[in-house]
Amino acid sequence: MADPRPPRIAVLTGGGDAPGLNAAVRALTLGLSGRLQAEVLGVEDGCSGLLEDRMRPLRAQDVDGISGLPGTVLGTSNRVDPRRHEGRDRRAEIVQACRARGLDGLVAIGGEGTLAIAASLHAAGLPCIGLPKTIDNDVPRVERSIGHDTAVAAATDALDRLRATAASHGRVMLLETMGRDAGWIALAAGVAAGADLVLVPERPHRLPEVAAACRRRLAERGHVVVCVAEGAQAQQALPQAAAGGARLGGTAERLARALEPMLEGHEARATALGHLQRGAPPVASDRLLAALLAHAAVDRVRDRAWGSLVTLCDARAVSLPLACVQGSRRVPDAHPLFRAALDLGVGFGTA
Ligand code: F6P
Repeated sequence: MADPRPPRIAVLTGGGDAPGLNAAVRALTLGLSGRLQAEVLGVEDGCSGLLEDRMRPLRAQDVDGISGLPGTVLGTSNRVDPRRHEGRDRRAEIVQACRARGLDGLVAIGGEGTLAIAASLHAAGLPCIGLPKTIDNDVPRVERSIGHDTAVAAATDALDRLRATAASHGRVMLLETMGRDAGWIALAAGVAAGADLVLVPERPHRLPEVAAACRRRLAERGHVVVCVAEGAQAQQALPQAAAGGARLGGTAERLARALEPMLEGHEARATALGHLQRGAPPVASDRLLAALLAHAAVDRVRDRAWGSLVTLCDARAVSLPLACVQGSRRVPDAHPLFRAALDLGVGFGTA
C-alpha cells in the first residue's frame, strides 16, 4: 500500500561555504516540495545543527530570490564531526533524533568532509544523498563541485588586476588562492589569466627555479604574475596533506619575502585572495550545476536511491556510492590543464 504521508526530507549545507549553495537549497526545496509534495526542513549550521536537532521548515517563499546570494542561508560549520564530537561518537543519537522527527532522509550538500560524514550517517541508519560542493574541487571522483567555477572566476579577475599594477611598477606580484592540498583553483585561474608561473601542491617547486623564471620574465617584459596555491610547497620541505581542520595561508607572503633578495632589485609583493573567493556571488555555471544536481537528487529521493552521491558526467547526472568519498582529489599529472598551461608558457618553478 502506498505511504499516505508526504515524505519529510531534511537539507543540510556543511563545511566551508561555497558560492552556489543557496541555488542548491532553493532548487532542492522547490523540487522536493513541488514534484514530490515533500515537507522540507533545513538543518541549521550544518553538522552543528544536526547534533543539536535544529531544523526549520523550508517552503517556496523561504527560498525566494536566494540563488544569486553567496554563503548559505542555512548556515554551516566546518569544525564539527558527529563521528568524534567531544570525544564521543554521536551518530546513533542523530539517527534517533531524525527518526523521532519522522524524517525519511537527508540531502547533504558538502565537500569531502561533510560527504564522508553523510556516508557514515547513512551506514548508521539515516538515509542520505550527497551533493558535492567545494571551491577546492577536490571531492574524489567528482569532476566539478558547486562553487569551484566562482572561485576560479574571482582568482582570474584578481590576477588580471594584479597584472596591471605589476606592469606599472615593474614588480613580481604573487596571488595566493585557496584549495588546501589541491591546486585546482590556482591552476585554472593561472591558465585563464595567463599567469607567468603557477605553484601548486601537486608539483613541489624549487625556490632557485622560481627566482630564475621571474628574472627571465622581468628581463623579457618587465613584470611577473605568479599564482600560488595556499598548499604549494617547496621541494625541500616536502609536505603532508593538510589535515581537515588545519588553517593554511601565508604561503605567497613567505615566498615573496624569500624571493625578493633574488630579484636583482625588483620588488615581490603578495596578495592573499582568501575568503573573497568564497564570498563572491555565484557565476551562472555554479547556479546551473546546483540546479542540475538538485534535480537529480530529487529523482533519487523519489526512487529511494539513498546512499548516492550525485555528480555530472558528460553533462548527465550520475550516482556514485556515497561511501566512495575518501581523501581528496588532486590535479593528476596528465590533466589537460597542466598540458594547456605548458603550451601557454606557464612555468611551475620545478627543475
Ligand atoms: O575547503 C574550503 C576552504 O576555503 C579551503 O580552500 C581553505 O583552506 C579553508 O576552506 C578555509 O577554511 P576556514 O574559512 O575555516 O579558515
